[in-house]
Amino acid sequence: MDSIKTRIESLRRELNMHNHNYYVLDNPTISDREFDEKLKELERLERENPEYDDPLSPTHRVGSDLSAKGFEQVMHERRMLSLSNTYTVAEVDEFVQRCRDGLPGEDVEIVGELKFDGTSISLHYEHGRLVRAVTRGDGEKGDVVTENVMTIRSIPLQLQGSGWPDRFEIRGEIVLPWKAFDRLNEERAFNEEPLFANPRNAASGTLKMQNSAEVARRGLDAYLYYLLGDNLPFDNHYDNMMAARSWGFKVSDAMKIMHSIEDVDEYIRYWDTARKELPVATDGLVFKVNSLRQQLNLGFTAKSPRWAIAFKFQAERALTQLRFVSFEVGRSGTITPVANLEPVLLSGTIVKRASLHNEDIIRSLDIHEGDMLYVEKGGEIIPKITGVELSERKPGAEPVVFCRDCPSCGTPLRRMEGEAAWYCPNKYGCIPQITGRVEHYVGRRMMNIDGIGEETVTQLFDMGLIHDAADLYTLTEADLMTLPGFGQRSAERILQGVEESKNVTFDRVVYALSIPYVGETVAKKLSRAVGDIDTLMSMSVERLTAIEDIGPRIAASIVEFFADERNRKIVERLRSYGVQMAMPETDEAGRSDKLAGKSIVISGTFTHHSRDEYKNLIELNGGKNVGSISKKTDYVLAGANMGPAKLEKANKLGIPIVDEDTFLKMIE
Ligand code: IVH
Repeated sequence: MDSIKTRIESLRRELNMHNHNYYVLDNPTISDREFDEKLKELERLERENPEYDDPLSPTHRVGSDLSAKGFEQVMHERRMLSLSNTYTVAEVDEFVQRCRDGLPGEDVEIVGELKFDGTSISLHYEHGRLVRAVTRGDGEKGDVVTENVMTIRSIPLQLQGSGWPDRFEIRGEIVLPWKAFDRLNEERAFNEEPLFANPRNAASGTLKMQNSAEVARRGLDAYLYYLLGDNLPFDNHYDNMMAARSWGFKVSDAMKIMHSIEDVDEYIRYWDTARKELPVATDGLVFKVNSLRQQLNLGFTAKSPRWAIAFKFQAERALTQLRFVSFEVGRSGTITPVANLEPVLLSGTIVKRASLHNEDIIRSLDIHEGDMLYVEKGGEIIPKITGVELSERKPGAEPVVFCRDCPSCGTPLRRMEGEAAWYCPNKYGCIPQITGRVEHYVGRRMMNIDGIGEETVTQLFDMGLIHDAADLYTLTEADLMTLPGFGQRSAERILQGVEESKNVTFDRVVYALSIPYVGETVAKKLSRAVGDIDTLMSMSVERLTAIEDIGPRIAASIVEFFADERNRKIVERLRSYGVQMAMPETDEAGRSDKLAGKSIVISGTFTHHSRDEYKNLIELNGGKNVGSISKKTDYVLAGANMGPAKLEKANKLGIPIVDEDTFLKMIE
């Protein structure tokens, strides 16, 4: 019996360590498969030996969709204050001077760090174990969100190393990294759910969800920046944070000790641009007095500490005139209002258009015709209208009104109960919806048919050559060469793309069909669970909702989609042309020994596949994914933002660096 307990404990220790290597150090030392095997073994042992269960076991990181309704509220042991903001270097210099004046004759060290743009969290640990996670709330009391926080893999449930106080609190910021934010919004756009305006809203919204399994799926992360307690290991902030790092917390390496105003100014100048390369959103910097004794001496005002200050980055903003608002129809019928602007230069690009998202946003901004509008671009790529310059409003200008009929086909618009978006119900008669679905079908992440873009689809439709995606398979070279500007070469390219799309896997076919609410992730889950199209088409809402992550709304949408004769016909025709309508028999597909014996390090962020998918690809092709670069490494598979240390090491050892396109060709 005892040997089981020992095995359970050793698996937990190992899995905790691997989570730390992967999510905090970004340096995995084990393959995903080995990790999963260990996790499965632990799950089995815990199931068979429930007397050894531990609520903090790494098996509980996946969350549950049965989370309790509502959150318990607790008083903070120490109030959660905010920081006073500054916007100029001069104000930060004044802050440093104020601290010096308040500590006459003393040397004052200042610590600079990033101001993460997420939602703050207070974590409590006892005997090295996470006991409670509380949101900021109103600063006096907050919500207990431990269950959700446990799903964040970079937060240690059980501390490592040594020297932590028996009881302490650590505060930090929960963030949704850009990549996860973009993925989430992409999914929501597809599902016609309201988009999150920025990663901060997405992070705080996610943290407050009642479904911790969904929280786990969204990919939150956490940076810690403040250690509190009675028996802290050091008498200064910096060393305490370094100690926290050694216990397993993610502490940013941007933290820096500075001695002079010049250091501070340089730090601001550096991060003002360097922050744009970070994987997470930041909205400024924070400067803190390093010594805890000096902090105590400086004390607090009613709202914020006197020993710390925030410097906010300037969001880039421009003022320009609204030419008109256009209303655009998406493939799902949703109407998106778009502000068409007098072209204006903003952070290096010319902005002519900005989405106004929905009617409520037009109302709340109170936009009138010909208004002068503020356009902003933070770290984000998408420009955003943030306000109206009222002093420049033309006398007699009318408010912008949202259309009530479809701007394309004239059908009266509808609005779903409780939703902000209007949509055109004329699914099969409204041209942008029809062409939108074909455009989606040929897209890179769907059937990846090269050479066909928005314009070509519209031309093909206008000429009566296609009415739906299945018609793509009947196109001939002669058809295509009738298109303006098309020669034999471009026609052949398209035909080849159409031919190759017959090899695209079933999960992407499901995604390509434009079933409302079935985005990329859902399509993957669905196709793996059901296996083939006939099963999918015959399933009831009850059976569909039995599949992990398929809720009643998605299920109803699938049933409704296949109940429509027109959709069934398209599926039958696609099948007759040779499009994949089932998952491959075994997962042997794609297996090769092209990378046999090769050790490959993955670094950076990628566009075609996720990191995990690349790991699988390496293993599927006989290679080995290793965590760190050494003499024995054969290649580095490098995405964007490869770590500078890794780059230097690879160069020093003369290890070839391949980008993702090259890598994909290698295993083609
Ligand atoms: S220190 C008493 N450090 O900014 C000082 N805060 O307006 C406690 N924040 O509520 C905060 N990055 O949510 C600190 N490196 C950082 C931070 C940071 C982000 C947030 C935090 C806080 C707000 C202050």
